[in-house]
This record gives sequence, structure tokens and C-alpha cells, in this order.
Amino acid sequence: MSSYDVVIIGAGPGGYNAAIRAGQLGLKVACVEGRETLGGTCLNVGCMPSKALLHASELYEAAAGGELSALGVEVTPTLNLAQMMKQKADSVEALTRGVEFLFRKNKVEWVKGWGRIDGPGRVQVKLSEGGERLLETRNIVIATGSEPAPLPGVEIDNARILDSTGALALPEVPKHLVVIGAGVIGLELGSVWRRLGSQVTVVEYLERICPGLDGETAKTLQRTLSKQGMSFKLGTKVTGAKTGKSGVTLTLEPAVGGASETLEADYVLVAIGRRPYTKGLGLESVGLSTDKRGMLGNEKHQSGVPGVWVIGDVTSGPMLAHKAEDEAVACIERIAGHAAEVNYGVIPGVIYTRPEVASVGKGEEELKAEGRAYKVGKFPFTANSRAKINHETEGFVKILADANTDQILGVHMIGPSVGELIGEYCVAMEFSASAEDIALTCHPHPTRSEAGRQAAMGVHGWTMQA
Ligand code: FAD
Ligand code: NAI
Repeated sequence: MSSYDVVIIGAGPGGYNAAIRAGQLGLKVACVEGRETLGGTCLNVGCMPSKALLHASELYEAAAGGELSALGVEVTPTLNLAQMMKQKADSVEALTRGVEFLFRKNKVEWVKGWGRIDGPGRVQVKLSEGGERLLETRNIVIATGSEPAPLPGVEIDNARILDSTGALALPEVPKHLVVIGAGVIGLELGSVWRRLGSQVTVVEYLERICPGLDGETAKTLQRTLSKQGMSFKLGTKVTGAKTGKSGVTLTLEPAVGGASETLEADYVLVAIGRRPYTKGLGLESVGLSTDKRGMLGNEKHQSGVPGVWVIGDVTSGPMLAHKAEDEAVACIERIAGHAAEVNYGVIPGVIYTRPEVASVGKGEEELKAEGRAYKVGKFPFTANSRAKINHETEGFVKILADANTDQILGVHMIGPSVGELIGEYCVAMEFSASAEDIALTCHPHPTRSEAGRQAAMGVHGWTMQA
């Protein structure tokens, strides 16, 4: 039996960052991971492979759709899907190997296998090489992540009815891809396949896309994606699916009830959210249980049972890699006896469609519901010189600031590469900056970041470039 300061179960962005930080702080640490490679959902079947395909498909469409030709660059592209998938797999492999290197560098032991809590301070591992191993530890960190939420009646087979993992590895371009769920996965992966030539129909239960996103921003995104050729069926539920040799027949109904209709697809992607993953984890052995959503409690990363901590997708908050990473570091600092906090009010979100969507803080609907007086400064990319020169003028930056104190409460952007701009506002909000602070800060010209500065000026009626 081996004895540790910390045993972490799961090596996604939560688990691997926790393990590395523990190693850096000189704690004796093991990380248990059952997958063949480190990096969890994010590196293996999530953030990274999806961004690899988004990047490649964007370039393909720029060439095939006439965008490059309009710039005077004449090319006749041919899609080599096998090569596109290979470069994705190569990047993923390099990234997962990078985590292995960091484990070695920081003296983290990777215990390969599936872990199960076996009472306080004990983790039993079913080893990948066969056999079992018991780890004894002062602290257990649960970082087991999440899995796709199932949709009853539409069983995922990853042949014709896919989850995100299946949709990242299709052997051909679908003729008609139906996406169930107009959330982040549906819109990102729907965009990939539309760019490569699929007809894409998105079926969404609610009357809007991307619930939780600022309403005006979500509407603009839907309008833009529709212009690109993506179809939306909002307020619609899928009640059944019949799979044949060459495709799927879905039965749809209005969400409020009414006449049903059918929709034919050669592939269906189910992307209606993710749920925490705690299967076979032995929670009962330490008296832990999950809530109705399958989630483990989280009071400053503590599960409620001394010595058992929880981080990442398996606990409350947005299911995002950078949130898992922040919780990982804060959790280990606490285990080491240091003070640490995660500011849940400043966790950015980015949707990597084209245009991108990036936001941090509160949306207008949320501020209205709170009865908070706020001012809006908004600046369109049609008036931003860099966006104009690059022919990417869709979208805007919107800054919401407290009407009395001018403190920035939320920033919502849709436009070219705005995912790279949102970090400035995360820093600003961490420092409780006012809109005036941004408005009076010199920004480089010509960049898209000037649109943000102009939006901040707009909060005070000083906009100069519109
Ligand atoms: P995970 O990454 O899910 O890792 C958990 C790990 O624990 C897994 O490797 C699993 O094998 C292992 N495990 C589980 N149980 C056990 C056990 N009993 N024993 C041993 N090992 C176990 N987020 C972003 O911020 N940006 C993005 O662009 C983005 N894109 C995404 C795209 C897709 C298609 C998907 C599906 C997700 C995306 N996400 C993105 C979300 C992101 O992947 C997750 O928020 C993140 O991976 C959560 O990290 P985690 O460490 O909590 O869990
Ligand atoms: P999501 O929560 O973003 O969206 C799910 C959508 O499905 C919602 O619009 C919801 O109303 C709809 N829906 C739910 N039940 C439905 C039903 N029965 N029929 C039709 N529609 C239904 O979930 P998604 O897209 O599956 O992604 C899961 C998580 O993964 C996200 O919440 C996000 O945290 C993470 N992710 C993050 C990315 C990023 O940061 N760029 C990219 C991809 C995933």
C-alpha cells in the first residue's frame, strides 16, 4: 500500500492542473486516470479536437466559399477529410504527451486505471495493466468530469446517432446533419460540418439559442449562423428516432404540444448538455451522495466530507476547462494550508463559431431581474477599422456598467476573434474597473480591441469612431 498527501481521481483540466500544482508545492501526489492518455475530455474529445476542426474548416470555407478569391488569392480547394482528422489527432497527441511530461517534471505519479473511493483516505484502483492497487492518502480530490446527457428515445450509437465524440470523428461529410440542442457543442460542431458541405438543421427545445447567453448577443449569433446556411427549428422537441441503414428518421413536435412531423437525416448529433460523471466512484463508502442533477456539493471545493474535495465539471458552476483549472489550483492551495479563492463572477465563456461570441459577467436579462440600474455602451464592428479592412464587420461589443458607480458588470461580444479580447475585461473586472478606466486607456490602432474601448466610451456618450 502506498501513502500520499493527495490522490486525484481524473486527469482532465481539473485533475491534471491539481496534480501539477500539488507537485510544485512539494506534496506527494498521485493522479488516477483510466483513459489511455492524460488530459480528460478537454484534450482528448472536447476543447482541443473541436478547435482543431473549427480552425481547419474555417480555412477550407474561406477558400471554397470565395472569401480568399475576393482578396485576390485564387485557389481551388479539395477537401481531404482524412488529413484534416489526422492533423487533429496529431495535435491532440502532442498535447496529451505534454501533460505526461509535466507530470514527470513535477513528480506526479500517474496511476493508470479506474479509481474507486474505498472509505476515508483510501482509493482502490483497478489497474489498466490488470490487478488492483490500494492508495492511502490524506486527501482525495474528485475530478471525474462529465459525460453527454442522454435523450430518451434517441439512443446514441456513434454510428448514425452521435454524441460530440462521434461528431468529432465522422468518416464522411454528412449530407444532412440534424443537431439536437442549440448550445455550445451543437453550434460549434454544426459549424464545422456546415463549412465542409453539410446541410445542418438545429432542433432546439426552447424559443431561443444558447440559454444563459445575453439575449441580444444570442439573437445576433442566430441571425448570422442562419445567413451562413444553418437552419433552426426552435420551440421543438424530438420525440423519437428510427435508425435505418443510411440514416435516421426523427419525429418532432412543437415543445408546447401539437401535430408531429418527421425529419430525415443521415447523421444526428445529440448535444443537449452534459451531466456529472460519478459512476462506480464509491461515494457511499464515505457517506457522499449527489444532488438531483448528479452533482457533488461544493463549498470552496470541499465535498462536505473532511479530506474529500471536488473540482471541475463534476461539481456546480459552468462546465468549462478554465473553471476546472482555477478550482484545481485553489483546491490544492487550500489543501496546502494557503488562502485561495475562485471568483465565480468572472469566468469568461467563448463560443468558437465564426463570428465568435465571448462574454463575462452578467447579461442584460440578469441585471433586469436583479433590478440593478445599469448603463449600456455598444460599438459595432462595422465601425471598427481593422474589422472593415479584414471584411469581418459582423457583430458588436457591449459593455454593461453600474449606473451609479460605473463599475463594469458584464461584457458581451460577438465578432471576429473576440475570444482573444475578453481576457482584458476579465482583468478589468478582477480589479473592479469602471467603464471610464477602459475608455481612458490607450489601445493599439488598428485593432479590434478599439471596438471595446469605444463601447466603454459609449457608456459615457463619448464614442468617437461611429
Ligand atoms: P474531464 O475533462 O471530463 O476529465 C475527467 C477525467 O476523469 C476523464 O479523463 C475520465 O476518464 C477520468 N475519470 C472519470 N472517472 C474516473 C475514475 N473513477 N477513475 C479514473 N479516472 C476517472 N471547455 C472550454 O472551456 N472551452 C472549450 O472550448 C470547450 N470545448 C468543448 C468541446 C466539447 C466537444 C466538449 C465535450 C467539451 C468542451 N469543453 C470546453 C468543456 C471541457 O472539456 C470541460 O469543462 C473540462 O474537460 C472539464 O474538466 P474536468 O477535469 O472537470 O473533467
Ligand atoms: P448546452 O447546455 O450548451 O446546450 C444544450 C442545449 O440543448 C440548450 O440550448 C438546451 O435548451 C437544449 N436542449 C436541452 N434538452 C433538449 C431537448 N430535449 N431537445 C432539444 N434541445 C434541448 O450543452 P452542450 O452544447 O451539450 O455543451 C455541454 C457543455 O460543454 C456546455 O455547457 C459547455 O459548458 C461545454 N462546452 C464548452 C465549449 C466552449 O467553451 N466553447 C464548447 C463545447 C462545450
